[in-house]
Parts: sequence; C-alpha cells; structure tokens
Amino acid sequence: MKATFRSIEGTYDILPTSRRAVRRSEAWQHVEGVIRDMMQRFAFQEIRTPVLEPLSLIARGVGEASDIVTKEMFAFIRGRTHYVLRPEMTAPVMRAYLQHHLEQHPGEQRLFYMGPCFRAERPQKGRYRQFHQFGVEILGAIDPRADAEVISCALEIYGALGLTGTTLRINTLGDADSRVRYIEALCAYFAPYEAKLTSASQQRLQKNPLRILDTKVQAERALVREAPRLIDYVDSESRAHYEAVKALLDEVNISYTEDPHLVRGLDYYTRTAFEIEGAGLGAQNALAGGGRYDLLSQSIGSSRSVPAVGFAAGMERLLLALEAGGQPWPAAGVVDTYLLGLGEAAAPVLFVLAHQLRRKGLSVIQGPRWRSMKAQLRTAHRLKARCCVIVGDNEVATGQATAKDMAQGTQQLVSFDALPDYLLSYLR
Ligand code: HAM
Repeated sequence: MKATFRSIEGTYDILPTSRRAVRRSEAWQHVEGVIRDMMQRFAFQEIRTPVLEPLSLIARGVGEASDIVTKEMFAFIRGRTHYVLRPEMTAPVMRAYLQHHLEQHPGEQRLFYMGPCFRAERPQKGRYRQFHQFGVEILGAIDPRADAEVISCALEIYGALGLTGTTLRINTLGDADSRVRYIEALCAYFAPYEAKLTSASQQRLQKNPLRILDTKVQAERALVREAPRLIDYVDSESRAHYEAVKALLDEVNISYTEDPHLVRGLDYYTRTAFEIEGAGLGAQNALAGGGRYDLLSQSIGSSRSVPAVGFAAGMERLLLALEAGGQPWPAAGVVDTYLLGLGEAAAPVLFVLAHQLRRKGLSVIQGPRWRSMKAQLRTAHRLKARCCVIVGDNEVATGQATAKDMAQGTQQLVSFDALPDYLLSYLR
C-alpha cells in the first residue's frame, strides 16, 4: 500500500517494530529508565516545560547572533504572540525558575528534563529537525562542585548504559568582561586574514567572532589553532573556579582534555564550558554539552543574577552510539500471558479472564480465535509470552484451560476459577 503522507524530513516515528535502536520504542524506554534512575541518585527532580515558548526568550537567552536564533528556529506568529518551538531547554528552565520564584525554595534547585526540541538544521545521520534532549540544570549554585557534578552525572549515565569511548573536553570562558576582551583580541587576530575567510566566517567576524572557532573548514582550522587562547583573557576568579572544577574531576578520576578554543554555540555561557563526544558517530559526534550560565537570568530580564550550571544531551546520538558500540539491548518481553482461543465459545471466557488477570497486574493479550493454534503459538513466541492459556470448545465444556509454559513446553490443566491465582504464583 502506498502511503499518501510521510513524516516530515528530519522527523521520524519511533515504533515497536523498528530494527534500528534509534527508532525502536523499546530501546528508548530502556535508555530513559537508566537516565531516570541516575537522576534519582543525583537527587534531580523532573521539570516539564511547554514545547512552545516566547520567541524573545530564546532570542535573548540563546543569543541574537547565535546560529540557533539566526538560522534554526521554527518560529511563527499567531495573533500578537511570537512563538518558537523550543530549540533547547536551558532558557525555558530559567524562565520557569524566575516565573515561579523557585529561588524562594531553600537551597539550590536541582532539575532534570527529557523531551523533544526543534532546530531547522540540514538533516543527516545524528542531526534531526525534531530531536530529543535529556539534561540537568542546577540553579542557585555558585560552587565549583555543581559544575563537576553535572559533568559526572552525564558520564555516569553513559557508563551505566555501558557506553565506552566517550571523551570530555573542557574550558573556561571567564566572566562577561573576559569575553569582551577575548572577542577584541580575536577580531584583531582574524582581521588581516579576512579576505581569505569563507563568507560565513566573514559574517561571523562582524556579528559573532567566537563562532569562527567552530569552523569545520580545514584552512580556517589551521588559523584557529594559532588564534589567541581564551584562558589568557580570563579573570582570576574564573580561573580559580576552573582549577577547582578540574581538581574535583581529578578526585573521581574523570579524565578530560582542556580545549582552549571550546566556546559552544550558545551565547549564555560564563566560566565552565564542556562537551562530551562519542565514538562511531561520524560528523555529529557531540553527545552532550553544557556549562555555567551565571548571566542568563539577567539577559532574559531578571534584575538578579542566578548562578547556574547544567548539561543537555541528545537521545538519538546516544542510541546511535550504543548501537555502534554493539551494546546488546536487554530483551524485554511484551506480555506475560497469551490467551489462545479456538472457536466461538472461547471468546467470552477469555475476555473475562483477560480482565481478571490485568486487574491482578499481569500483562495479557488475547489472540484472534479464527486463526489456527500453530499460528497463534507463533505469535505468542514472537511476543515473548511466558505462558499461553489455551481455551477451545472442550475446555469451555469442562471449565478447565490448558496452561502452557512457553520456555519449557510443559502444560497443565487448570480450572478457569483457579487460573488467575495459578498464573500469578507461576509468573511472579
Ligand atoms: P547543545 O550543545 O546545543 O546544548 O545541545 C546539546 C546536545 O543536543 C548536543 O550535544 C547533541 O547531542 C544534541 N543535539 C543538538 N542539536 C541536535 C540535532 N539537530 N539533532 C540531534 N541532536 C541534537 C544545549 O542545548 C544547551 N541547552 C546545553 C546546556 C544545558 N547548557 C547548560 N545547560
């Protein structure tokens, strides 16, 4: 059958039947379960914010000159409101923090999230227009311990999933003044080479010189290697903070590379910035990124600075990396019990039985009674049912069903009334 409609390019369906982990719901559930478990261990509580946000929140939060805001937003106007499909969740979390006065709760706010984000990027492997992020934000935390903790949380999640080959790069961006000084130095450095730069980098030189550091063009990369290093423009307090973060990472044997040109693509960072890369992902190898953003609250209109730090990670890239690493996925069963009916009389009996078993907490599916026993048993195997209850005309007449253990192949007659308890003691 030819489908009239297909999902939009850069978006995709997640199905129970897909062979690829990144599109298979069971793989997502497994990964989400491990993430939730780790969030609990780190005492992060869940926040869910709307998918739609005010456009100016993202423009002011992420940065007017950033690629996300200039090129990648799904934005529209309805009535007098300018909406954007959120491209990330840090600015929305800060909005919620300020809107609900979460600072009035004692201590720092430790929040985690999981959900879809939207960026109008050119789709390719590992890069989508609708993708999913999970991440954490610690708001109201000035301590370098918080920076080290979010890095460790991301790595612990990867470790718990059995992902190997991740690498961590870190840097410090200093305070706002450090950045102004650094941008001046960068502009002075690149100015003599302006004519040789690509037109994209020439524009960046005018609007957002830091972005040139992310260039993928080989000739420009060579220039970047010789460019001034951020660390030489960083204020002394930020340097001390950076040293403290690194010392904590050392304490728990987290290895990292210092990357003096790591600036990240979002404008809100101050001090710590980091990225985690995965193996076997090709060009889109950034698994996670994050850092400190002490001035974000003020850029989105608050009179107070809220010191904060966090990370966000791509779900799809994680699933791709796990698959590339050859991780075996835990084989999850779909149902406990398959009710195999043969003939008309079995239908109401099995319907009632299914109802009773579900109330007892078992997962149950009823097979189509017009199909042969063999065909239904095949389906039961495919669904990884642990037990099959077979009811045909004979069983209805005697009030007993055949309970079949699918792994052993053994079977036993059990009266209808006794079946729920029999199955419960047997399966639990
Ligand atoms: P980001 O580096 O823009 O940071 O995104 C985080 C992660 O989201 C990336 O490392 C990547 O795995 C995934 N990602 C981004 N764009 C796409 C895409 N088009 N398709 C698939 N995956 C993608 C942030 O979003 C910041 N909010 C991180 C943060 C949290 N900073 C502080 N707290």
